[in-house]
Amino acid sequence: MPLNIAMDGPVGAGKSTIADAVASRLGILHLDTGAMYRCAAVAALKKGLDVNDQEAMEAFCEKLHVDVLYENGSQRTLADGMDLTGEIRTQEAGMAASRIATYPGVRRAMVRAQQQVASRQSMLVDGRDICTRVLPDARVKIYLTASDEVRARRRWLQMQEKGSGESFESVLSALRERDRQDTERETDPLRIAEDAVVVDTSDMTFDESVETILRLVEAAYD
Ligand code: DC
Repeated sequence: MPLNIAMDGPVGAGKSTIADAVASRLGILHLDTGAMYRCAAVAALKKGLDVNDQEAMEAFCEKLHVDVLYENGSQRTLADGMDLTGEIRTQEAGMAASRIATYPGVRRAMVRAQQQVASRQSMLVDGRDICTRVLPDARVKIYLTASDEVRARRRWLQMQEKGSGESFESVLSALRERDRQDTERETDPLRIAEDAVVVDTSDMTFDESVETILRLVEAAYD
């Protein structure tokens, strides 16, 4: 049986970077499921499809093969064999991903693909519905969060480093809008699973966050 760790949380909670570090310390892979929604959304935009058109997006995602590959432990995400890893980290891709993630047909296709990947090997899987839908039987379930302001500031600083001129206020408002869409959708909205442990990293350093999660994993497998 593969060892699966499930992690959910809102936008910018640090899931990707923290999960990468935890997975590498445990010697397992990290599956970033948000990257799969982003990849499908970017593939649709490239085809000139309207991400607000539910029927078109469900038909598109039903046929699309979203695959993940690992290169030196890092995830690459492909749509029908096309590696879109370098194009999925924009705010536009995030909003489009959140939009298509509201459609039940899109979620069905993504959940199926994610469960297949996670059944093959031990993984730390992060997303929005991992504890509740993708891996309901995971032995370790974590809800990783931080205050809106802390999450927006971390994101804004990352964007500044990349030379973006985006204001803090606009990053904060985009983050809140995406959280709203992810928590208010009808199908498998982001919520804290009853059996998840909440880890609030607002006042933690990166290393403290990683150590906290490693301790939870150790305790669960003791
Ligand atoms: O984790 P992320 O910000 O890269 O995710 C992008 C969007 O994809 C997110 O706003 C909602 C959607 N998503 C989802 O609905 N379910 C998941 N398991 C992962 C992501």
